[in-house]
Amino acid sequence: MDAYRAVVDKRDQRIFLERPIPDATLERILQAGRMTGSSKNREPNRFVVVRERAKVAAIAALGPQARWVAAAAAVVVIVQTERHDYDAGRCAQNMMVVAWGDGVGSCPAHVDETQLGALLRVPAGLHVNRLIAFGYIDPARAMPPRSVARRRLPLDELAHYEQW
Ligand SMILES: Cc1cc2nc3c(=O)[nH]c(=O)nc-3n(C[C@H](O)[C@H](O)[C@H](O)COP(=O)(O)O)c2cc1C
Repeated sequence: MDAYRAVVDKRDQRIFLERPIPDATLERILQAGRMTGSSKNREPNRFVVVRERAKVAAIAALGPQARWVAAAAAVVVIVQTERHDYDAGRCAQNMMVVAWGDGVGSCPAHVDETQLGALLRVPAGLHVNRLIAFGYIDPARAMPPRSVARRRLPLDELAHYEQW
């Protein structure tokens, strides 16, 4: 899959098959996160990888918008040594795009950061950013919830050339 297709065809997935992600594939996903550039190359991002079923379920229970996370094969939580949303977003998207290129679906989710940090024993002074749920998908059930139907604004509404 070329980079364009991996980005343009990627849609967030919330229904996962009960199939583990091989260690080598998970490592490629984490390498994509690791190699992400950051502001002044300060590398604020750290990862907590969760695969234990009970812990994945406990994470899913932390927020009403994250119930579907319970079926994820792996959850990666981005924790930052200093808050920098842009760096976290780049890192998250790189991991999700590489995962998609390897046939693994994903979706970010937001839960209460304080509760998530406590559950994962994140030391004080670090900042829990977002979590990303990863898993193989059944293409026949890959539809998004109606409330977030995959629309995108047309490009001519988004892009301005030479001036606004
Ligand atoms: C920062 C961030 C947080 C998100 N949090 C949630 C969430 O808590 N629950 C959820 O179901 N989707 C969540 N999403 C997924 C968005 O709903 C999704 O990216 C958007 O609807 C586009 O979906 P599509 O890829 O199907 O077009 C989040 C996305 C981002 C970027």
